[in-house]
Formats: sequence, structure tokens, C-alpha cells
Amino acid sequence: MSETQSHDGPRTTTGRIPHGPFRPGDQVQLTDPKGRINTITLQPGKEYHSHKGAIPHDTIIGSPEGSVFRSTGGTEYLAFRPLLTDHTLRMPRGAAVVYPKDAAQIVAQADIFPGARVIEAGAGSGALSCFLLRAVGEHGLLSSYERRQDFADIARGNVERFFGGPHPAWRLTVGSLEHDLAETEIDRAVLDMLAPWECIDAVAEALIPGGMVCAYIATTTQMSRIVEDLRSHGAFAEPYAFETMLRSWHVDGLAVRPDHRMVGHTGFLVTARRPRHRPHRHRPDLRHPGQRPARRRARPRHRGIDHIPAPHRRVAPQPAETAEPRRRTHPRHRETPGPAPTTPPAGPPPAHPRHPPARHENRMGRLRKPSR
Ligand SMILES: C[S@@+](CC[C@H](N)C(=O)[O-])C[C@H]1O[C@@H](n2cnc3c(N)ncnc32)[C@H](O)[C@@H]1O
Repeated sequence: MSETQSHDGPRTTTGRIPHGPFRPGDQVQLTDPKGRINTITLQPGKEYHSHKGAIPHDTIIGSPEGSVFRSTGGTEYLAFRPLLTDHTLRMPRGAAVVYPKDAAQIVAQADIFPGARVIEAGAGSGALSCFLLRAVGEHGLLSSYERRQDFADIARGNVERFFGGPHPAWRLTVGSLEHDLAETEIDRAVLDMLAPWECIDAVAEALIPGGMVCAYIATTTQMSRIVEDLRSHGAFAEPYAFETMLRSWHVDGLAVRPDHRMVGHTGFLVTARRPRHRPHRHRPDLRHPGQRPARRRARPRHRGIDHIPAPHRRVAPQPAETAEPRRRTHPRHRETPGPAPTTPPAGPPPAHPRHPPARHENRMGRLRKPSR
């Protein structure tokens, strides 16, 4: 976010001043020697109280960030302003939030840039909105859609608490993105919801050529559905699906090892770009420019009874003169023409070899006994 200089220090157009001495209204994280964190909002005349004694807010106001304060009980507290990662992990939640590791990937992989016009759904608790607003800056646009009024209220509270007031680039609409989307000429669309495929049509309409959609989903079945739907929609280049894992480390003298506990799973990300024209049938893989796209294996087509091995195929014996040679239609398999068909004998037509009267096929091409 750009800043303008004032006698008070660097100032943003929102109320939050992210550095300099502590001011009334600032959020402050007080960390005790055991690493326990308490977050307070500075108000002149108030005191922070714990079972380890009190600290008057007035002693904190005006002090440089990173100062240590001693409580009346003698415990020392280190004081910092919360980072955005602290804010998102500690914010009041309505819906589940996007974790910082995924928010960082969304900003990077969806290429959210200062001044970008971005749409987002759903706003949920506003965690991802904070990251996106930081990335687009005050001259960009983040238009967030949230179906639920109660979640929208929580999101607004969390965003305004972090930025110290309304953010000039933020528009929050209570409604469904697929029905209420008002923006056009959008650079990026970020979807974090149960059924992002419901928004594909609206997003495809709103994105500019070269724009990008990024979906954050929690399960493999959702990932499969959004990838297949983006592919078959026709307005997007080949989607890219991935996840990130973050493992923190314990580093203490010779004991240098991964931490025993980690967040094993949060979600998957799928990105896809919007070409100017509908991509050709063989779409270029835009993740790796210059490389040939991976060849997709053709789905095996259902071949009816033909794929059942002959010994299991009970075919009624045919009189030699009525058995026709097998015809292959594909030119590469075309054979020299067989003998001319003989005139059928008089009487009822013989049973077709694929449909013997004694047995029936079901839909899967398997044989079943006729019902009695
Ligand atoms: C997992 S939460 C989003 C969390 C949010 N990204 C955050 O970091 O705090 C999903 C939200 O999407 C909302 N939602 C679901 N479908 C939607 C739609 N079609 N349009 C707008 N919001 C939708 C839900 O009400 C829910 O609040």
C-alpha cells in the first residue's frame, strides 16, 4: 500500500499505520517468556491485566515497537504489532479461513498485482480478503461476494480491524457471485467455496483475455470436478492443480529436525488462464510455455460384448454358410474383401452371433441369464 508522509510518520489511506511508535487504537501482541501471546488494543487510561500483574496502556503508547514491558508482578512482555499472518490465525471466524501458506500461494500463483481488478467469493471470515487487498493496494479493486449476511459482517469486521478502517479498494456484496456479479473487465477471480464450478460461466464472462481464475478447494473430489469443468467449459486454457505443504523445523543445537506436529492438509489450488479465443481442441499447456502438452490417454470406449474373451462368450453355433467374415471399419484394419455374401436359406433368419436367443446382455455388455 502506498503511503504519504506526515509528521506522525508514514501513513496509509486506511487508518492503520503499520510501523513507528505505538499509538492509541493500535493492536499489540504481548508475548510472555513462555511464548504465550495476548493481543490488546491500546486505549489511554486502560490497563492490561493477567495473573502475572498489570501493565498500563499509557506506558506502551509512544514506545517503539519491539519494546519489553515489565508487569507489576515482575513478568516481562515483548510487544509487537500483529502481522497479517497473526491476524488471520487469530481473527474471529465465521467460515474456515484460508491459511497464510495458501494465501501466499494464491497471491503468487494467481499473480495478484498492485492495481489489479480482482473478484473473490466467498468472503467468509475475510482472511483471504486481507491478503488480496494488500496485494492489489489502494488503487486496485477487490470485489468480494459472500452469500451469508452473518459471515459478511464478520469479514467486514476483520478486514477493518486489520486495516484500521474501511479499505478504499474493497467492495463487499452480500449475494452469490454467479447471480450478482456486477464487475466486468476483471483481471483475476479467486474462488474459495464449496462449489466453485457453479461460478465458471460468470467468471468466464467477466475475465479479460489473459485473466486468470484461481480456485481453492479442500477435497480431491472438488479438485477433480473443477478441473474437468474448466477443461470442458471451453473458455479456459489447461488448468494447473497443485498443493503446498509447510513443515516447520525444530532447531536447537544438535537437535535439528522437522517439528513433530504439522498441518498435514489445508486445501488444493487450481489455476487456469482465459485465452482471447476459445482454445483449440488440443489446448496448449500454458504452465510450461514452449513444451508440448502432455498427451491425454483416450478413454477406453465401451465395446459391448466384443471385449469378453471368446471362451466366456456363449455364441450359438452357426451354420458355416451363414457365418459372415468379421468386418473392421477402421481404414488401418481394412482387409481384402471377403467372399461375396451367400443367399440366405429359406425359413426364419438365423440368430445373430452377438445376440444369441438363449442369453441377454445387460448395459455393461456382460451376460446374464434370461429371467424366467
Ligand atoms: C471457506 S469460506 C471462505 C473463507 C475465506 N476465503 C476466508 O479466508 O476467510 C466459503 C464461503 O463462501 C461462501 N459462498 C459459497 N458459495 C458462494 C457463492 N456462490 N457466492 C458467494 N459466496 C459463496 C460461503 O457462505 C462461505 O462463507
